Amino acid sequence: MKQTVAVVFGGVSTEHEVSRMSVTSVLENIDREAYTPIMVGIDKAGRWFRYEGPAGAILDGGWEQGPKTPCVLSPDRGHRGLLLLGEGGWQLLPVDVVFPVLHGKNGEDGTIQGLLELSGIPYVGCGVAASANCMDKEIAKTLFDSHGIPNARYAAVRHGDDRAGLAGRVTAQLGWPVFVKPAASGSSVGVTRVEGPGGLDAALDAAFLHGPKALIEEALVGAEVECAVMGQGPGARASQVIGQIVPKRGLYDYEGKYLDGSTDLYIPARVPEAQAQAVRTLAVRAYRALECRGLARVDFFAHSDGKSVTLNEINTMPGFTSISMYPKLMTRSGLTYTQLISGLLELALTQE
Ligand SMILES: Nc1ncnc2c1ncn2[C@@H]1O[C@H](COP(=O)(O)OP(=O)(O)O)[C@@H](O)[C@H]1O
Ligand SMILES: [Mg+2]
Repeated sequence: MKQTVAVVFGGVSTEHEVSRMSVTSVLENIDREAYTPIMVGIDKAGRWFRYEGPAGAILDGGWEQGPKTPCVLSPDRGHRGLLLLGEGGWQLLPVDVVFPVLHGKNGEDGTIQGLLELSGIPYVGCGVAASANCMDKEIAKTLFDSHGIPNARYAAVRHGDDRAGLAGRVTAQLGWPVFVKPAASGSSVGVTRVEGPGGLDAALDAAFLHGPKALIEEALVGAEVECAVMGQGPGARASQVIGQIVPKRGLYDYEGKYLDGSTDLYIPARVPEAQAQAVRTLAVRAYRALECRGLARVDFFAHSDGKSVTLNEINTMPGFTSISMYPKLMTRSGLTYTQLISGLLELALTQE
């Protein structure tokens, strides 16, 4: 039986455009023999639409002018679907499974996952708690620490905290340079490398534009390597191949990630096999420690001793275009992109 998949894209997030890129690949490659995709776009104002125009108009945002019907996902388990809010009243469109191809706030932070839990419709990816915990870098680090998973030393600062003495504490406890970042953002938005005490205030202000909590982290030196993990519980598996990103501007930033190609990807990562194995082992440990399911990309720094690694973060809905790191690691590890999408939908449909 063909399954109806609501493929949700856009969203109220600084990564709205990234979602449009990811979903374009998903719609091009989803197995249409097995699945009937329904396109559900959320615009930047947070309005939901069932979109019925060409998938090719999603990438540049043109879908917003295309044929579409306002809709909502019903939290009522009697519905298990979308309510299309047409001119003549509402109409139910039943959905078998949801693929929220949404990045960042409102997409991979547990919010939409909460709505999906209420709806009773299976969905791809991590649940409410895992999504929320991975999104908040302070909470995630607390959990990494409690599971003995190495991660950067840091200080958390809340908006409005007294900053007197802060630079001195950073000098004493972390040393310079440091990285200042919003506790809950993504795609390097609001992240600044700060060379000395004079730059701290401006970097914190920049981070607070994206949320009420910021992290000041010791600067880690090493290759930035990433591992794809898929599955649930004891069935969680790391990709056999890990990847490496090489930012050309010293920071893997939004432009470099998506816009100007100034980031090189190396697959496999240029690190010794023993270090790659350490990454795979720790990636699965971290994934399980935070109770992830479905998928996540776990990012590390691999240090120059060729052995040690430090975990940077877990992304529960990593960039998902066919040329993004997560799908590429999976395809290099033996799955086609189409099989990857089907595998994630199967995991969603079969999980308890
Ligand atoms: N502690 C750190 N040491 C060195 N580089 C860092 C550190 N934290 C972040 N970076 C750089 O900034 C980028 C973005 O930071 P990250 O914590 O991954 O945030 P995001 O959630 O926005 O991806 C990283 O890919 C890395 O290049
Ligand atoms: Mg990152």
